[in-house]
Amino acid sequence: MPSKSHQTSIQAPALGPRRGPGAFFVFEGGEGTGKTTQIHKIKRSLEEDLQKEVIVTWEPGGTTLGQKIREMLLDPEIPKMDARCEALLFAAARAEHVAKIIAPAVAEGKIVLCDRFWDASRAYQGSGRALGFQAIDRFNEWGTRAYYPDRVYVFDLDPRKGLERASARTGGKLDRLEQESYRFHDLVRNSYLKLAEINPRRYHVVEASSSIDEIHDDIMEDMKKCLLTPNLSSNV
Ligand SMILES: Nc1ncnc2c1ncn2[C@@H]1O[C@H](COP(=O)(O)OP(=O)(O)OP(=O)(O)O)[C@@H](O)[C@H]1O
Ligand SMILES: [Mg+2]
Repeated sequence: MPSKSHQTSIQAPALGPRRGPGAFFVFEGGEGTGKTTQIHKIKRSLEEDLQKEVIVTWEPGGTTLGQKIREMLLDPEIPKMDARCEALLFAAARAEHVAKIIAPAVAEGKIVLCDRFWDASRAYQGSGRALGFQAIDRFNEWGTRAYYPDRVYVFDLDPRKGLERASARTGGKLDRLEQESYRFHDLVRNSYLKLAEINPRRYHVVEASSSIDEIHDDIMEDMKKCLLTPNLSSNV
């Protein structure tokens, strides 16, 4: 169970002001749950069926600086990175990502589909590495200037199944975080579910064991509703 301070922190997130005519959707969840597969399919549907302008981006990465930080973070040659160092590196990449890519695109009216964001730090470093949500939120709030997603799709799947999928995709090669124990990945999964339970207006849980088409239809239906909501980013 998260400590009391975690709960306080996630029950009362700071809300950023309305940031422009676009939208910011985040895809979260454990390894191999199907986030990247869906992002590309959703992008096509938004562009072809709804004539939207869409940007796909990802964490850690999304910018040149972020990509360099990503290489450090996922390097299996650095097996025992200090947990706080890891959390700060993710937050540094995120600050650059929001400032250079996400915020300008949303302000121009584009739809941003982002493969992982702030909640990944809550789940992986806050829960998985036991740093707590409060510490993670403190410097991410500052780093992003409290830039929250409009909607977060949480891909839920047993980590054993997800890691099997991830491993099959890469021929058995797993990165530094994928190599963590099942206990770690179970903590990550439960953390995402807890976030979704506490704030159902921001999070939509996706049953990631469903077929690719079923998941796509579920997300598109939800996204269409979100896009019709006035003042989307204040609806959290
Ligand atoms: N609904 C699904 N059912 C079965 N297999 C799937 C499904 N969605 C994706 N896959 C397959 O599972 C593998 C992992 O998918 P994907 O790369 O999209 O996951 P991911 O969540 O982005 O993983 P990572 O966390 O490693 O980035 C891929 O080989 C993909 O084809
Ligand atoms: Mg992926």
